[in-house]
Amino acid sequence: MATTWLIFCLGIVYSVQRAQSSGILPVKATHHNNSALHQVLEALAATYPNITRLYSIGKSYQGKELWVLEITKNPGRHIPGKPEFKYVANMHGNEVVGRELLLLFADYLCSNYGNNDRVTRLVDTTRIHLLPSMNPDGWESSNEGDCSSVRGRFNANGVDLNRNFPDPYDGQRNELQPETQAVMNWIHQEPFVLSANLHGGTLVVNYPFDNLPKELKRSGSRVYYSSPDDDIFVSIAKVYSKTHPTMHIGHPKCPIQRNERFADGITNGAAWYPISGGMQDYNYYKTNCFEITLELGCCKYPPALYIKPYWYANREPLLKYVELVHTTGMKGFVMDERGRPLEGARIIIENRAKKIKTSKDGDFWRLLVPGNYTVRVAKRKYKNTKLRVTVNPDQATVVNITLVSKSSRNLNRRRPVKTVSPVQVFIDKDERNVSFHSALAHRDRLRLSAKAPKKSASLKITPVAHTFLISLLVLFFQMMFIDN
Ligand SMILES: *[C@@H]1O[C@H](CO)[C@@H](O)[C@H](O)[C@H]1NC(C)=O
Ligand SMILES: *[C@@H]1O[C@H](CO)[C@@H](O)[C@H](O)[C@H]1NC(C)=O
Ligand SMILES: *[C@@H]1O[C@H](CO)[C@@H](O)[C@H](O)[C@H]1NC(C)=O
Ligand SMILES: *[C@@H]1O[C@H](CO)[C@@H](O)[C@H](O)[C@H]1NC(C)=O
Ligand SMILES: *[C@@H]1O[C@H](CO)[C@@H](O)[C@H](O)[C@H]1NC(C)=O
Ligand SMILES: [Zn+2]
Repeated sequence: MATTWLIFCLGIVYSVQRAQSSGILPVKATHHNNSALHQVLEALAATYPNITRLYSIGKSYQGKELWVLEITKNPGRHIPGKPEFKYVANMHGNEVVGRELLLLFADYLCSNYGNNDRVTRLVDTTRIHLLPSMNPDGWESSNEGDCSSVRGRFNANGVDLNRNFPDPYDGQRNELQPETQAVMNWIHQEPFVLSANLHGGTLVVNYPFDNLPKELKRSGSRVYYSSPDDDIFVSIAKVYSKTHPTMHIGHPKCPIQRNERFADGITNGAAWYPISGGMQDYNYYKTNCFEITLELGCCKYPPALYIKPYWYANREPLLKYVELVHTTGMKGFVMDERGRPLEGARIIIENRAKKIKTSKDGDFWRLLVPGNYTVRVAKRKYKNTKLRVTVNPDQATVVNITLVSKSSRNLNRRRPVKTVSPVQVFIDKDERNVSFHSALAHRDRLRLSAKAPKKSASLKITPVAHTFLISLLVLFFQMMFIDN
């Protein structure tokens, strides 16, 4: 036993030393080609096995793996109550700053875990997913020093991936690409709360909506097309821009657009220029995840020596943005009377069309700016519950909600529903007074042409079928071994 442990520990020490001595770690502030990128991720996963997991969400058009490094304590699955966060970079293959920043960020989180209290707390309490390159094929045809061309922007099939998501107004304009499909599967599989999509070409945070109805587009003038959560998007966008040393000034002075200005270094997507089929709008329409798009600087593919200054400028904003999942809005669990988690319960904020749904563990996160809210929690076959919730500036308010089944009225009379302090329940006479943002109500009726991928959870296996399947497997393995 002791020998096994010794060998195990030596193995870890050896792999740590190998990663370091071969010069892969610490991650260098330079450009990494696709194989070097994979090596860095493998080295991080091997050096920090307790807090990382390297996995692929699918393949590019040319068959390259789309690697994601998960960083968290006890990686591997969603833990009830632990929020899921993601950063996606290099979706445009020639916009490479984000790709390198995510490698440096991964190393920063891993190497400071256990040494730095802030990083340790973040890694303990958050499941962070980093996709450094969503478009490894495009990267291969891009060139260092090319600041503004579109060479390498598209995937190997010539498609702009940030125009390829199903769009509520324009549907699916070109065929769904493997990279897009992989990301769609991923964002429907994990209950993400917050994310950012890292681009380059100017210096600004762009937030939803990116697209707008045709009637508004036709007018030709710039239209600020706000989402029902405009206040929260503005607030989280400003957290990034104001933590960045220069972004908040709002005057990038990029050579190709010297006079471009963005108040506070942020912009509504449609007010800047509308795009159809973008990723951030898709996240918002179809999932619980709130996503913004970061434009990290004027040059899309700067010479390697600029990576370090980019890292120093963005390290704190990247950290602070992840921390928002803990400091913003409300979170908690929805359960039935027996304390079992309820999946798919809707968290509805009065006068706000976007609904958040609980995950299969009954947990939810609802980002909100500080203030007082009327919250309704609804699920079919259960009685609605209404609450008043106060959201504070520094810490998400924890709200646990018990829903009472409509069929258990008598049971309910004997055992009144507990209310959780500090939230007091208040009964509103007019249950239907939840006014919706008219634009979104309209949009909800439009069906997106590409269906969300089916959840594997919907494949319910009865105990009998389960036993049957196991017997089949056992038989199968027996046959294999008998044959050999
Ligand atoms: C990728 O980068 C590594 C490390 O810099 C280098 O050794 C390797 O030759 C590069 N691969 C290609 C295909 O350029
Ligand atoms: C992983 O965690 C175990 C148990 O907490 C600890 O003994 C071990 O040293 C850790 N390994 C690394 C590489 O941090
Ligand atoms: C929220 O409600 C509390 C009382 O319940 C009040 O003291 C506070 O001022 C309210 N906050 C806002 C932002 O309205
Ligand atoms: C909410 O419920 C969760 C899961 O049952 C529990 O861990 C947590 O302590 C509860 N929080 C409060 C404030 O009641
Ligand atoms: C109903 O909602 C509107 C906002 O849409 C609000 O102004 C009004 O006070 C609400 N009425 C009641 C009775 O809550
Ligand atoms: Zn881009």
